[in-house]
Amino acid sequence: MLSEANTGVALAEVPGGDLAGRQSVVRVEGLCKSFRSGDQEIVPLDGLDFSVDRGEMVSVVGPSGAGKSTLLHLLAALDTPTSGAVYFARNSLKDFREAELADYRNRSVGFVWQRHHLLPDFTAAENVAMPLLVRGEALEKALHAARQWLGEVGLAGRAGQRAAELSGGEQQRVAIARALVSEPVLLLADEPTGDLDERNAEAVFELIERLHRSHHLTSILATHNLSLARRTDRVFLLEHGKLTPYAGVLATAASGAAEIGARSPGGRA
Ligand SMILES: Nc1ncnc2c1ncn2[C@@H]1O[C@H](COP(=O)(O)OP(=O)(O)OP(=O)(O)O)[C@@H](O)[C@H]1O
Ligand SMILES: [Mg+2]
Repeated sequence: MLSEANTGVALAEVPGGDLAGRQSVVRVEGLCKSFRSGDQEIVPLDGLDFSVDRGEMVSVVGPSGAGKSTLLHLLAALDTPTSGAVYFARNSLKDFREAELADYRNRSVGFVWQRHHLLPDFTAAENVAMPLLVRGEALEKALHAARQWLGEVGLAGRAGQRAAELSGGEQQRVAIARALVSEPVLLLADEPTGDLDERNAEAVFELIERLHRSHHLTSILATHNLSLARRTDRVFLLEHGKLTPYAGVLATAASGAAEIGARSPGGRA
């Protein structure tokens, strides 16, 4: 029975949670993903088990190539696991039909990428409205919601500006508004501040923190920026195919480094 998972709003109606009242929004069990590259098998995710409760903001750190993007893509149903399962609320994404997966991606999940992927010749408002238009909402209604969201991200005055004419920080704000215009339950952000200078990275991170709280989101961020990651409720380290609570020391990077950039293949022959 998949009906609870089909819209973000309906998650509120999912009964249960544990005795402490916790409710897992995302849970993965034995999650594996491997890629074949020539005669090599790359295994970025080698049996991951974790869950993220409603309202939590967690971060995933790890060296470049460790599998952070791969993990977020599986959580967003943009790719499928080699084995294991991803659950949204209590439903395995494996059991979703194609239309239900499309609905999950459109309504339940908001995705922010490192690069904004805005349509450069469309206005900020048109870009933000796109997820609503894709699912068939009327143009005026979609643009109205988009303008409200642009206000939330501090760009009320820029709704009619072409995306290409905005600064990098402004473009990322538009991308955040686009990710959230569907009022998703789950926000997935892959290096959302990775392309920004320090000042803009701080401002965009603060914005995500504020929207996470005010919209009661459950958020999972991949980042190389340890000082930003430490501001989240829990920090996971993804390395050598395994996800562990980050204890402040990296096997492959200097302890105390603010950035995790060391290259690690995250795989095995
Ligand atoms: N479609 C694919 N085909 C083959 N290999 C892939 C594919 N996608 C990812 N990989 C490999 O899987 C590994 C994990 O990649 P991923 O992009 O998830 O790492 P990451 O932790 O996000 O790195 P970064 O911090 O640089 O963004 C890498 O070795 C990458 O080359
Ligand atoms: Mg990545």
